[in-house]
Amino acid sequence: MTNKATMIVDKDFQVGEVDKRIYGSFIEHLGRAVYGGIYEADHPQADEQGFRSDVLELVKGLDVPIVRYPGGNFVSGYNWEDGVGPVDQRPKRLELAWRTVEPNWIGFNEFMDWCKKVNTDAMMAVNLGTRGIDDARNLIEYSNHKSGSYWSDLRIQHGYKDPHNVKTWCLGNEMDGPWQIGHKTSVEYGRLANEAGKAMRWVDPTIELVACGSSHIGMPTFPEWEATVLDLAYDTIDYVSIHQYYGNPHNDTKNFLAQSMSMDSYINTVISTCDYVQAKKRGKKQINLSFDEWNVWYHSNVQDRKLDPWQIAPSQLEDVYNHEDALVVGCMLISMLKRADRVKMACIAQLVNVIAPIMTQNGGPAWKQTIYYPYMHASIFGRGTVLVPLVKSPKHDTKDFTDVPYLETVAVHNEEKEEVTIFAVNRNTEESLPFEIDLRSFGAFQIIEHIVLESDDLKMTNTADAPNRVTPHTAGNAAIEDGGKIAATLSKASWNVIRIKL
Ligand code: AHR
Repeated sequence: MTNKATMIVDKDFQVGEVDKRIYGSFIEHLGRAVYGGIYEADHPQADEQGFRSDVLELVKGLDVPIVRYPGGNFVSGYNWEDGVGPVDQRPKRLELAWRTVEPNWIGFNEFMDWCKKVNTDAMMAVNLGTRGIDDARNLIEYSNHKSGSYWSDLRIQHGYKDPHNVKTWCLGNEMDGPWQIGHKTSVEYGRLANEAGKAMRWVDPTIELVACGSSHIGMPTFPEWEATVLDLAYDTIDYVSIHQYYGNPHNDTKNFLAQSMSMDSYINTVISTCDYVQAKKRGKKQINLSFDEWNVWYHSNVQDRKLDPWQIAPSQLEDVYNHEDALVVGCMLISMLKRADRVKMACIAQLVNVIAPIMTQNGGPAWKQTIYYPYMHASIFGRGTVLVPLVKSPKHDTKDFTDVPYLETVAVHNEEKEEVTIFAVNRNTEESLPFEIDLRSFGAFQIIEHIVLESDDLKMTNTADAPNRVTPHTAGNAAIEDGGKIAATLSKASWNVIRIKL
């Protein structure tokens, strides 16, 4: 057993309120996310609109507050008009981002119907790759304007009398990346985002706008990209978006589990850049972060390079997640919670089949991947106020990181429910970790449960044939000690949720 780790939390020392939208997700027209994922008209469990009801139930189990749509790289070549109106008149298009054929069986209105079914809001992205201001303002008019104009009346003609009132809009996707259709320099993008955003807001002043930040922390233009874009679009936008995926292609698990430390510094650097521009502008408005693509992504890379192009909904980016991936997802969630004061939206990318917590077989079952569990626990139990985590933990070094704490943890206080939830990962893959939590400011409390996700095999996965190999159990050993403390032993390589009733 490694030396003890400790955390002190005090109800008055607060990081900030959790914006529930940090538990968002993402559906892109990519692979089998839409066709064969959320929608499969001839599936035995399809509803009257062709949406898979088994998938609807699994999504509802996550209580997802917001879903980004329709891309992703896809959006930078997308004509949204192709996806509205009578389905039999919609064109099939070559989709250049993923080299497939997009049949447009599902589009904006159907996606909005699906959002209602799973009780979520849409985060819509506009195409600032091949298109621009005109397309963006037309889509807002189609979506949010009541009636009496060309685009709003067309929506009504398409069977949607009431406006969709989508509040959150992304100004393009990953425009810093050369892989993006219509890739731009920071100056080109900053100017376009500002002008498109202005026009969109003139159509509907109530919307919120998200500008593209960097595609990942390793981009050569990071963080100058953020500084320039914010400088050019500060008056118009509300959030800057960042993306990050991690992987373990060289099977160095210690290093893989430490990668969320780079997420911590990524978040902090972007916050500093936002604040620098605010100071430079003598501005009142604080720009916050939308971490609208994050996850583990690497398992499917080799296989995806062999795909034949121009298929409809091929299996793409279908990472089969293992136990260690779930631990990294847990650490990434904790990273964002630790900066809940500034990370206001986030989207695990993606939701179904494509690097996703939910998998399906065409015509067959749907099941939960390992990463479903930490994401579900955080979304269900991680609402309230994040408390400043005063943590002491034994540390180790890995290939790319020094002083990596074995313990990654954070506590969330839900005043309304009179509960505190502690999320904790033991990164040590060989030994368990004694953990003491000092909750002295809370008075009397009881432990509701100690949920543990653990596995003897770090590479263990859930599959269609064996969907429950990695599932959490509630037999954790957390117990109350004298003096308002909790003592637990976190098993090696485990994700833990300790729930307390005050
Ligand atoms: O989520 C998969 C892809 O990753 C998205 O389309 C793109 O934005 C990112 O590079």
